[in-house]
Amino acid sequence: MAKGKTSTVFFCQSCGYESPKWMGQCPGCREWNTFVEETVEKKSAAKAHERRAAGGPVCLSSIETKDEERVTTRMQELDRVLGGGIVPGSLVLVGGDPGIGKSTLLLQVCQKLADDGHEVLYISGEESLKQIKLRAERIGQFSDKLRLFCETNLELIGDTIRNSKPEVVIIDSIQTMYNEDVSSAPGSVSQVRESTSVLMQLAKGLGISIFIVGHVTKEGTVAGPRVLEHMVDTVLYFEGDRHASYRILRAVKNRFGSTNEIGVFEMRETGLTEVENPSQFMLNGRPEEASGSIVACSMEGTRPILLEIQALVARSQLAMPRRTAAGMDYNRVSLLLAVLEKRLNLHLSGSDVYVNIAGGIRINEPAIDLGVVLAIVSSSRDRAIDEKVLAFGEVGLSGEVRAVSQAAQRVQEAKKLGFTTVILPEVCREQIGEVKGVRLIGVRSVGDAVQAIS
Ligand code: TYD
Ligand code: MG
Repeated sequence: MAKGKTSTVFFCQSCGYESPKWMGQCPGCREWNTFVEETVEKKSAAKAHERRAAGGPVCLSSIETKDEERVTTRMQELDRVLGGGIVPGSLVLVGGDPGIGKSTLLLQVCQKLADDGHEVLYISGEESLKQIKLRAERIGQFSDKLRLFCETNLELIGDTIRNSKPEVVIIDSIQTMYNEDVSSAPGSVSQVRESTSVLMQLAKGLGISIFIVGHVTKEGTVAGPRVLEHMVDTVLYFEGDRHASYRILRAVKNRFGSTNEIGVFEMRETGLTEVENPSQFMLNGRPEEASGSIVACSMEGTRPILLEIQALVARSQLAMPRRTAAGMDYNRVSLLLAVLEKRLNLHLSGSDVYVNIAGGIRINEPAIDLGVVLAIVSSSRDRAIDEKVLAFGEVGLSGEVRAVSQAAQRVQEAKKLGFTTVILPEVCREQIGEVKGVRLIGVRSVGDAVQAIS
């Protein structure tokens, strides 16, 4: 028999689920119409035996642990998301929508690393050398420690990496890379997986850190980055509103640090700049003495972020008054309105209600409920809330204010940005005790909270 047997299987392009037959809906990720047929070559048993283990099993105590020396990227926001810098020999996936700024971010990382004297290799399968140069000109000066290489053939890339032995390699993007041993087209699930495993062997074998760019694809014939999440050490997603200038880098998997950390960047004419104080950034341009505005606090990973919640309650001309929610869940707003109607006797059935989280950020944490409720009450009474007041807490259906996690950290962030009064769930206030310079008002129900701002 020949050395390998080929057969065809169907892969989900979104999550990589494998099936012998076509399916309309993927049982793995519940997406529709994501299955495509690919040929795979079964590796023969003989080939599998060729690989020999490099050494025998060892016991834990015989392993030397130097303090894992990490390479700093000199971008604090990125270092934090990575868990304190780049771990040598790690494989990092950077996913995100096309055009969000992945190439820009990584080119800037290259710039900083090269400035620090590290050998960096940027491999692009998407852009020509000229295009990269144009981008680099916007970003600034580059040292000669950075080398560029436009190639998509992984064998050639592997040879280049083995010969030049850089410390950090960027692959932009994994969907353009191909391996001659795999018969399906670049971007298919089998190509993307095979390419990643080749890169992983390079990373682990030579101790080189490799960053892989993966585009998030809504549809079409290109496999998304979720297909390789389980193969890499760290998964970062770069996201943001296309119309807003800020971008958020989020870790969703990290073998060398905590997940759910975020890094905030701003896209400028000259590339990305770090936003060291996101709370201040989000509160920029806050109106003074305006009714319907209050600041709430949401936890993004281990970091609290303060945001302004705005509400506008206006008499409606319509038979069915309008309700809109920007930046948060519409159903959550409807629920909170019902709570206000029932528990506080606030009649809103004749009014349009608009709720907005300023800055274009989207928040799903229920801890902002109390802020939303107070903003609506403030707007409907047309009475401004003191601008030094901050509120957080989850609101339940009986109008109770429920505890939220990491209350002490939220209060500290409020204090740091000059807030003097914090309205929070009573349970959290009891836990925290006293905080110097900040008045804590513990509330048990929305009624108590409304009284606190009156
Ligand atoms: P890019 O890094 O090419 O995105 P990706 O690699 O994720 O597809 O980012 C492209 C966008 O960033 C493009 O719309 C232009 C914008 N941009 C700036 O606003 N300022 C800059 O300095 C650079 C380099 C790009
Ligand atoms: Mg790109």
